[in-house]
Amino acid sequence: MNAMTAENLRSAFGGESQAHMRYRIWADKAEKDGFKNVANLFRAVSYAEEVHATNHFRALKDEAGDFSVTSGAGFGLSTTSENLEAARNGELHEIEQMYPAFMAVAEKQEEKAAINSMKFAIEAEKTHAELYKKAKEAVDADKDYETEKIYVCPVCGYTVEGEAPDKCPICLVKAERFVEFK
Ligand code: FE2
Ligand code: FE2
Ligand code: FE2
Repeated sequence: MNAMTAENLRSAFGGESQAHMRYRIWADKAEKDGFKNVANLFRAVSYAEEVHATNHFRALKDEAGDFSVTSGAGFGLSTTSENLEAARNGELHEIEQMYPAFMAVAEKQEEKAAINSMKFAIEAEKTHAELYKKAKEAVDADKDYETEKIYVCPVCGYTVEGEAPDKCPICLVKAERFVEFK
């Protein structure tokens, strides 16, 4: 793999891995604050980030070795409203800046595995940003996020509330493979 795409993919792996953990921590905080469904949403999206990290790691399968990995990552354990805002901003950063830049390089270098892995991620992040926005609106109105059930595609991390679609709109995986969070 071209060195720059490999480095970008390692950075994306780092970012996804940290988001996975950060959302789990923020889920516990939401639960403590009495927002059970927000906690469930954070746990569902945390799983989606694990899917992204895993896809990137697999795309790097021939790049064995030790590396220093630099990734943008949010910190802070504030109110659930603020955590939702920070989560959404992190997703928007990936959608608007990080993945488009990394994908432009990967396309120039014709790195197919990297492009596919990042394409799944960027499309799924759009669903995350939207769900976090809805959840924040509820919390800011002193209510829990309305939706009790969240479904996550185990192949691309696409995340949807209510019920799973017949087929994943991003990667076409069938409904029965979606992972339910409630
Ligand atoms: Fe992600
Ligand atoms: Fe995400
Ligand atoms: Fe999918």
